[in-house]
Amino acid sequence: MQIPSKIPVHVSFIMDGNGRWAQQRGKERVYGHFEGVESVRAIMEASVEWGIRYASFFAFSEENWDRPEAEVMTLMELMMKSMKKEYKTFMDNGIRLLVLGNRSRLSDKLNATIDEMQELTSSNSVLTMIIFLSYSGKWDIQQAALRMAAEGGDDIGRYLVTAGIPDPDLLIRTSGEERISNFMLWQLAYTEFVFTKTLWPDFRKEEFRLALEEYASRDRRFGKVK
Ligand code: FPP
Repeated sequence: MQIPSKIPVHVSFIMDGNGRWAQQRGKERVYGHFEGVESVRAIMEASVEWGIRYASFFAFSEENWDRPEAEVMTLMELMMKSMKKEYKTFMDNGIRLLVLGNRSRLSDKLNATIDEMQELTSSNSVLTMIIFLSYSGKWDIQQAALRMAAEGGDDIGRYLVTAGIPDPDLLIRTSGEERISNFMLWQLAYTEFVFTKTLWPDFRKEEFRLALEEYASRDRRFGKVK
């Protein structure tokens, strides 16, 4: 497979279409999420291979808490199991794991696993994999504003949960939806968006490479004249 001609520093994903993928096959929605984890692994491996430094995934929004309880429980279980299961992949490939979002809504057990995995992978530096969990962009700006006011600060970027992480160069959303859905509202100000009709469980290395080629063809001016 060809190497993409331009490699962004930070690529972000809105992984959409798991439910539809499962329903098309006459299966329960959760099967789509199980298969979706395989896509996350494929993207993670390709990111390491191509020298991408940050890969971030919108795994669960603040709004997703309103889904049926069984689906929420399954997703949380899946998150916990996947993190533990991928431990060797993280260590073998130099991947640092970060989980960002409203951690106060997660169970003690999940929070403990997250703390442990973040600690164990903290000195890995090839790729930073970010999982946004119980995250919404409005929540992030709100919590940042409150902390900034309390400290009398003036740079909101330093108070967002993504402080210290470069803003995404590219955002990819799968499944044909073309919305931001309350993801990183502040951080995506100058990000290039690529929308693809592919459902997330079918989004693997070749689809990723095509999205990177689309990104390579864009002319980024950051509001300036070139
Ligand atoms: C969107 O599809 C997908 C989600 C809300 C969940 C995504 C989470 C995972 C794939 C697990 C990730 C795990 C790790 C460790 C990163 P949807 O259910 O909204 O699909 P639909 O629009 O077809 O209903």
